[in-house]
Amino acid sequence: MIGIFDSGSGGLSVMRAIRERFPSSDIVYFGDIKNAPYGSKSHDELFAHTIDAIKFLKERGATRIVSACNSVSASLAISLFDALSIAPIDLIEMVGPTVSSFKDSDARVMLCATPATVRSKVYRHGFSMIGKNIHQVAIRDLAGAIERGAPDEEIERIVTEAFAETAHEDFDALILACTHYPLVADAFRRVLGNIEIIDPADAVAARVESRWWPQEIGEGKAQFFITQDSEPFRMRVGVMFPACVECVEVV
Ligand code: DGL
Repeated sequence: MIGIFDSGSGGLSVMRAIRERFPSSDIVYFGDIKNAPYGSKSHDELFAHTIDAIKFLKERGATRIVSACNSVSASLAISLFDALSIAPIDLIEMVGPTVSSFKDSDARVMLCATPATVRSKVYRHGFSMIGKNIHQVAIRDLAGAIERGAPDEEIERIVTEAFAETAHEDFDALILACTHYPLVADAFRRVLGNIEIIDPADAVAARVESRWWPQEIGEGKAQFFITQDSEPFRMRVGVMFPACVECVEVV
């Protein structure tokens, strides 16, 4: 069984992409809403939450893990694999598949993410390995606003303010490097106009399929665990996975 975790609803955008490619996979999802947003937390806090999330998923039967949270990618240290008995091949995170999907691209790339992701420089280092420089924009309050289901006007205002100082017409592509952001991709389109908006979920789902198919062929079951009840989360599950409205449990 595949375990997916995030601070809350963002990982649902990754799960949706995995389900599209790999409908028969069995998935257990962990959304740590009580501790959201992750993007404003310190490296030590994120490391601790990452361990808790992976332990939880393993206890619920997950044997392979998708870290559907960019903010914790820098926390996925070698020591963690050993301590939690996970082989690196059994964990897929966001940064590797995203960067590698740009290997043959000439696009001038801009990326937006949480402060934790930008501060960690995981994307900057990843892109420099394929000879690319990227422009990064940290957006402080967006993931939290999305998590609590803030109205469209508030979302659009946050996005507008975040890009106020950026000459976005100098770029061809914008990577939404926080898994919450694709949930409001339309707001980015309205604010930024013609730039190509990239949701890395598909690159991650492709990696899941290529690495874990056919071992993960199951019955298409899904379970969702959240650390604090949330109407917006339940609503998103209902919209994206209509058969699973009853599968959300607070732990
Ligand atoms: N969705 C997560 C990410 O990709 C975390 C966002 C947050 O909780 O701040 O970074």
